[in-house]
Amino acid sequence: MEPRPFDELARARLSRRDILRGSAALAAAFTLPAGCATPRQADPSSLRFEGLGHGVDDRMHVAPGHSAQVVLAWGDAVLPGAPAFDVGAQTAASQRLQFGTENDFLAFVPLPLGSNSSTRGLLCANHEGSRLHMMMPGFDGEAEVLSRATRAQVDCEMSAQGHSVVEIVLVDGRWKPVAGSASNRRLDALHTVLRVSGPAAGSQRLRTREDPSGTRVVGTFNNCAGGVTPWGTVLVCEENVNKVFAGSARGTREERNHERMGVGAELEYAWAAHHERFVLERELNEANRHGWVVEYDPHDPSFEPVKRTSLGRFKHEGATCAVDPDGRVVVYMGDDDEDEHIYRWTSARPWNPNLRAANRDLLDDGVLHVARFHEDGTLEWLPLVHGHGLLDGGNGFESQADVLIEARAAATLVGATPMDRPEDVEANPRTGKVYAMLTNNTRRAAADAANPRARNKHGHVLELEPPRDAQGRARHAAERYAWDVFLLGGDPRDADQPGEYHPGIDAGGWLTCPDNCTFDPRGRLWIASDGGARVGIADGVWACDVDGEGRALTKRFFSAPVGAEVCGPCFTPDGSTLFVAVQHPGESDARGNSRGVHHGAPTSRFPDHDPALPPRSAVVALRRHDGGVLGG
Ligand code: FEO
Ligand code: CA
Ligand code: CA
Ligand code: CA
Repeated sequence: MEPRPFDELARARLSRRDILRGSAALAAAFTLPAGCATPRQADPSSLRFEGLGHGVDDRMHVAPGHSAQVVLAWGDAVLPGAPAFDVGAQTAASQRLQFGTENDFLAFVPLPLGSNSSTRGLLCANHEGSRLHMMMPGFDGEAEVLSRATRAQVDCEMSAQGHSVVEIVLVDGRWKPVAGSASNRRLDALHTVLRVSGPAAGSQRLRTREDPSGTRVVGTFNNCAGGVTPWGTVLVCEENVNKVFAGSARGTREERNHERMGVGAELEYAWAAHHERFVLERELNEANRHGWVVEYDPHDPSFEPVKRTSLGRFKHEGATCAVDPDGRVVVYMGDDDEDEHIYRWTSARPWNPNLRAANRDLLDDGVLHVARFHEDGTLEWLPLVHGHGLLDGGNGFESQADVLIEARAAATLVGATPMDRPEDVEANPRTGKVYAMLTNNTRRAAADAANPRARNKHGHVLELEPPRDAQGRARHAAERYAWDVFLLGGDPRDADQPGEYHPGIDAGGWLTCPDNCTFDPRGRLWIASDGGARVGIADGVWACDVDGEGRALTKRFFSAPVGAEVCGPCFTPDGSTLFVAVQHPGESDARGNSRGVHHGAPTSRFPDHDPALPPRSAVVALRRHDGGVLGG
């Protein structure tokens, strides 16, 4: 079919929205000077703060009347015995006891267990990546790392990825980490042993010389976003795991699989030079042991983290949970790559709210589905089940393990819709509607209804609506949903790809490249971005209503320092603190150029701003000066 032009597709979708009523108000909004906060009369938004402008510098900024406090940064002490951060002497031994690099997903787990505390809890943070040329002296740039990194440097780097759990307490309006708390924990790529469970555990394709059983894996890494289960365990996602594998799988039985995951095609880390398991010619199956969702229990430091294969293997952005009225648990997941898919997993049985231990292996038994979006505004969840439809031996799927290991290939076979890099997909706990962040896809050749721009530079947000039961509750496990476009990223004045929001947004109200999202206690949507440098603006956090007169009226609440993306937005239960992760500050200029940028010459030295220290990724707590609920 001849692809329909963007205008026609956008009109078809946007006509279903009652809020985007025309361009007059939008044009008026943009007569205001850029970079200024713009208080307006009769603001239809329920969010009571003045939006920031789009300026970018080496500092972070939060809306007037708020504070931005650094809670934890790369190298801070986590476990008992952790040495103080010493930038000239970081080792694997010190790093495994300290907060990791490049913090991404954040969860705040109230303490004590089962409470609703907003003053004491566990901060759970992913560490998505590491850049040795920024962490350590001696590299002129990223390219040098591959050829020059030593074993000691690589091991330090591997110890800096993974995940951290740190107890934090609110004292006099400031969050303080409890270094050495018995609850604190680190997972990393070098030391942590994880169990493998579910249908792919023990598969021939997961077996290696180190692990002939195919059930025990060393390391979790490239941990992007995640989620929290209804029973309070944390889900840690493995995303760009392909970038550590060197060599080629050409001519082997894994050729199709590794090619689809980019394994062997995008080497970014020097790990394979010092660890043979990352060389494909030595260990063809190691790559199949990564790209999963990991579950661990933050309330039990002895809990062995487990890779839950039932949830499929791909580049997992996040894994956020919702509960169907019948008690079954649903996990929404994005696969962050161009033209990859949105997934949903449904548990086979209801979760047990009365007996926590009964949910221990609930994530091992369920059905993975993938989304097909129809032009008529419906969405179909297609099951990925061995023996169902084309998922059989004739197409290379001999078992459910094969379907899960190659979830991407299975999704294509059943007719899933290729999407514009799905990042967070998360249900609004107040309304039951589900929001999907599509960050961008400049490789998209032709627009379709759910991805209404070819070469999508700025990304968009979709709103998915499950059907309701008689009590009006969202049926998250239903086979069909409705869907709509919530907003299109980008500057509304952009001639090529104009953004679409509520017409009342102010000068700093438009965003680009939505990545992570969360909801405040009133169900309003807060979006973090990764990609502002494409258009010379700072990444940050925007908030908007999802219903009513202020729907899609995004306001900028936070701006990151130059070079950083913002990840992991997460509220305390009372909505008085928003935690955000400032990731890789100072690694490039305002236009994303990283040439000549390294440890000794960053573009920002956030958060210390000390000429003797490199930039450090950090968790930041955003609060109102009066301690009130953010957004009012
Ligand atoms: Fe790690 Fe999809 O961002
Ligand atoms: Ca990132
Ligand atoms: Ca992300
Ligand atoms: Ca991203």
